[in-house]
Amino acid sequence: MRILFLGDVVGKAGRLAVKQFLPQIKEELRLDAVLANGENIAGGIGMTCETLDELFGAGVDFVTSGNHVWRHKEIFSRLEKDRRIIRPANYPEGAPGRGHAVLTLGDGRRIAVLNMLGNTYMEPLPCPFRTALSWVESPELEDIPVRLVDFHAEATSEKKTMGWALDGKVSAVLGTHTHVQTADAQLLPRGTAYLTDLGMCGVEQSSLGMDFDAVFERFLTKIPTAFKPAKGEISLNGAYLDIDDATGQAKEIRIIREHCPKWRLETSAEQGMPD
Ligand SMILES: [Fe+2]
Ligand SMILES: [Fe+2]
Repeated sequence: MRILFLGDVVGKAGRLAVKQFLPQIKEELRLDAVLANGENIAGGIGMTCETLDELFGAGVDFVTSGNHVWRHKEIFSRLEKDRRIIRPANYPEGAPGRGHAVLTLGDGRRIAVLNMLGNTYMEPLPCPFRTALSWVESPELEDIPVRLVDFHAEATSEKKTMGWALDGKVSAVLGTHTHVQTADAQLLPRGTAYLTDLGMCGVEQSSLGMDFDAVFERFLTKIPTAFKPAKGEISLNGAYLDIDDATGQAKEIRIIREHCPKWRLETSAEQGMPD
């Protein structure tokens, strides 16, 4: 099974990057499924129904998220009813939506997906390791060998340890949240594909997708300032996975990093689209 997993899609620029680059990548890599982390699709923070529909319309089949998913309340009911979107599984009982789901492809093949939030330097939620280990043992996964984990976490140590803990139990452990693609794509000893961070889709000459000015101001003064999504050249970052359908073992993981100077998000461009 040939899968593309995109890192955090940030704002209008990120959505534009997906629209511009995805059709060609889909064709070249003959992809069976495209997944993306969508926690930043609306104005750089959170998701709205409109921006989510735009992402699905651009060819994304399934959306994971992270700590910013709660920003726009309109998404709460969507998280409840749309089985193509998940939020981190280790939020306490009562949080809207679900933390894992099964994506069924047109030909009937299935992909189980789990999303979790890390604990280190983040909100202390219930343990992601225990959450993951109980998920892989759950009866619903018995006949679904292809399993992907989006571990939305800050610390590289926590992410690497998650890869080790799930090696041989899932097809891939992929990190999101830091928005900077790491160079450690690898197949672990028991057949799990691993990457510490998928990177981001959006404006790379930015502070994680946001305009430098306000971020710099906050670093200088420590006074909270409103960030706004950056403008400029767009890029797309993620990973390509080739997974054995029968065993769930990864055969290949390769980073995907697309950039084209002719595709830019300008202040005046894409009028009428929300940030
Ligand atoms: Fe993010
Ligand atoms: Fe995040």
